[in-house]
Amino acid sequence: MIIEYPEKLLTQVKRATKDNRLTGFVPGMGSRHPRLVLIGEAPGREEIKQGRPFVGSSGKELTKMVELAGLTRDELYITSVVRSRPYSIKHVKNARGEVVEKHPNRTPTKREVKAFGHLFDWEISQLDATVLVPLGNTSLQRLIGGQAKIGDLHAQVLHQQILHLNAQDQYELAGPTYWIIPMYHPAAYLYARRLEDTVKHDWRQLGQWLQEQENTNRR
Ligand code: URA
Repeated sequence: MIIEYPEKLLTQVKRATKDNRLTGFVPGMGSRHPRLVLIGEAPGREEIKQGRPFVGSSGKELTKMVELAGLTRDELYITSVVRSRPYSIKHVKNARGEVVEKHPNRTPTKREVKAFGHLFDWEISQLDATVLVPLGNTSLQRLIGGQAKIGDLHAQVLHQQILHLNAQDQYELAGPTYWIIPMYHPAAYLYARRLEDTVKHDWRQLGQWLQEQENTNRR
């Protein structure tokens, strides 16, 4: 299921990002009662084209990891902390030696993450979810603060409140307590294959933890 954002929040984002190099808008998608909420960084070119999160090369890798955890994508909710594609402008020579302009994906800035802050808080609040899985540093830091590092915290089970943007546009820990299990972003190990075994191990462990957690809750 695709989420529909309140017009007021969409207008706020548009206003705050009008001078940024951002394009398109991909809504979060999935179950409103998800077993996990996967939280990425920002959509890439393929996601903008299809209007769905994680459908490009990172998405294909993510699907494999989700399956390793014994889950399917339709049991999850999938979103990102930024909903538009951040791009940079590069001038490169093509095969004929002509200079052409390219717009490659880039990591969103902290300002861009904040511009989507109220929209993201609202989105998470709409879900009947207890387990959040930030994928990579950008989303991990949005949830628990700038000092957190995926290299230190991957596959650890945290239990705490998450950062929300308050009325003064400052982050503060607020709202319900979640289980938070950080994972490497799939793009990280697409480019650093030495991480592959660790990442597979992390996802299997996440699947086991979730199963045990759900069994305990059922008792
Ligand atoms: N990376 C993300 O963080 N989100 C997507 O939807 C695709 C790639």
